[in-house]
Amino acid sequence: MNQKPVIFAHRGASGTCPENTMAAFRAAAQKGADGIELDVQMTRDGELVIIHDETVNRTTNGRGAIGRMTLDELAQLDAGSWFSPSFAGEKIPTLDEFFKWAAGNKLQINIELKTNKVPYHGIEKQVLDLINAYQMRERIIISSFNFDSIKRVIELDPYIAVAGLIWKIRRDALARAKELGLRALHTQSSYALSGYGREAVNSGMLLRLYTINHPKEWERIRGSGVPVEALITDFPERFR
Ligand code: G3P
Ligand code: MG
Repeated sequence: MNQKPVIFAHRGASGTCPENTMAAFRAAAQKGADGIELDVQMTRDGELVIIHDETVNRTTNGRGAIGRMTLDELAQLDAGSWFSPSFAGEKIPTLDEFFKWAAGNKLQINIELKTNKVPYHGIEKQVLDLINAYQMRERIIISSFNFDSIKRVIELDPYIAVAGLIWKIRRDALARAKELGLRALHTQSSYALSGYGREAVNSGMLLRLYTINHPKEWERIRGSGVPVEALITDFPERFR
């Protein structure tokens, strides 16, 4: 398992393209990623959109909170120019638009529910409904820093793949994950290399690591002997 991890492109190929745009997702496929990680939030009018922050300020030419804007308002924004003028005109994709594209390939898809700052009421059911509409279930892993959100996903669909996300080192993560019956944790390398990481692995937890951008960091993890199922990276091309 440690030898050849599954490679997920973090927010698409976000090292070379504006994150969470269709350009970044297409590039991830071209660069040979096995999968794509993307972040989902919900607009004021209840549409699922792919963007990392709770506001559009950093990655578009607009300003405002996603939860207070409509899809029409978001559709006016340029989500590419901040990264490079050559990506001018890139839009904030909807999850629906992403699935339409993904229906034409076989990439794995890690949907991160961004419910750790804004609760986005009903987002879990809406994401599951869309996954089922596109018959994508077997290609999906749903993750979140918000374990209550993961719990809601499991209540709605006990069989879909889910994973708990951990920022740095969270002492109670394994206990909470076990409580929910999770089989996978998405962690940083500091967690994987800590005693907590080993304990997690020893109790049968799969580890997927973010955000691993340097092959040397991966070598260090591999050298530690901690089994890692997948890497989530901004540069999938570096790990092929
Ligand atoms: O899902 C892994 C990683 O994306 C979590 O952190 O902030 O990049 O969404 P963030
Ligand atoms: Mg993410």
